[in-house]
Amino acid sequence: MTQAHYKKLFSPIKLNGLRLKNRITMAPLYLGYALEGGKISPLLLHHYREMARSGAAMIMVENASITAQGSGSPRTIRVDHNRYLSGLTELAECIQGEKARAGLQINHAGRFAFGDERVAPSAVPVYGKTPRSLTQKEIITIQNQYAQAASRVQKAGFDLVELHGGTGYLLSQFVSPRTNLRDDAYGGSIENRIRFPLEVVKRVKDRVGDFPVGYRFLADEWLPDGLHLKEALVLAAALAEHGVAYISVMGGTYESFFLPDMIKKSQKPGYMVSLAAAVKKVVKVPVITAGRISTPKRAESILQDNKADLIGLARMLWADPEWPRKAREGRDNAIIKCSPKCDACFHLVMKGRPAICTRWNKEKRAKYNEMFQ
Ligand SMILES: Cc1cc2nc3c(=O)[nH]c(=O)nc-3n(C[C@H](O)[C@H](O)[C@H](O)COP(=O)(O)O)c2cc1C
Repeated sequence: MTQAHYKKLFSPIKLNGLRLKNRITMAPLYLGYALEGGKISPLLLHHYREMARSGAAMIMVENASITAQGSGSPRTIRVDHNRYLSGLTELAECIQGEKARAGLQINHAGRFAFGDERVAPSAVPVYGKTPRSLTQKEIITIQNQYAQAASRVQKAGFDLVELHGGTGYLLSQFVSPRTNLRDDAYGGSIENRIRFPLEVVKRVKDRVGDFPVGYRFLADEWLPDGLHLKEALVLAAALAEHGVAYISVMGGTYESFFLPDMIKKSQKPGYMVSLAAAVKKVVKVPVITAGRISTPKRAESILQDNKADLIGLARMLWADPEWPRKAREGRDNAIIKCSPKCDACFHLVMKGRPAICTRWNKEKRAKYNEMFQ
């Protein structure tokens, strides 16, 4: 198959005025390459330079913490103080130097934070630990911390910022009926549960002006008592009205990822496309879909069928950073595929170790191990 068959995949698109040269984006992928304490490391720069060189139009850098308390791990990138600005500037420049747009995802992990004092909408235990319920005053403080972090992303020279509303982290903890048991204006009805993320979007946009703000969106927790698509769509429509630049759709949280049915589901190609297609029906802003989109043919047909506007590649691009080039050149068969049965990267990062892809050759694996600090 030649490039002519992937017309849509290699056509440009604009996100709130920001032009992307094609429809391929790197979906955020935390790999444990930052230094302990969250500073940018030479390995992280090397990794993102390679991702940007791939030909993908936009690289969305993995989640970065807006506060120390909301950090997901000791090696999560930090964006909660100006002392991180020089490293972040270097990271943005290294991506842009390869002619890709650079974005940084900002996050508060809430009940999934790694520190001792975890906060969340409500005191719902997870993995044997119970977070403390946030006061209304603290809610406003955290909203301001999102805005301050977004402003740092802008100052560091990135092209856009993404709010992490996926994976069951704080923004989605407010939206979920199982993790938000509040009886104030932030809990109860779906209109109340989406108040927190919408106020965050508003505060961030007020702070950064016309700088594009994207949203990683949890469409379904895939838990019986969790957030389901129907309610999530209420948030999707409201986010679009609040002026987000795009909605990047995902499903599942740390509490559903490891359930046997979910493991099976997530091994299937394009396993989150139906969620993106449902979101696309209720919004006019561009929609990104990710999840085992291992072939350019599948990517093109998702776009042609109007199920999404952009393709997110996370492990797919990491396993083979030449995915976009091979697609453009019609060398589909040469693409090295991330194996659906292999979850080595996930398990390594869960153990606090740097991720190494089992599909890489010996030299590349050795280089990454050597560069890891
Ligand atoms: C090890 C690992 C780390 C991830 N880190 C992030 C992250 O920081 N932020 C985020 O929004 N999604 C994260 N994801 C989800 C990916 O962005 C993506 O939605 C998912 O991996 C499916 O796409 P893929 O099949 O191309 O990998 C992560 C996934 C994995 C496996």
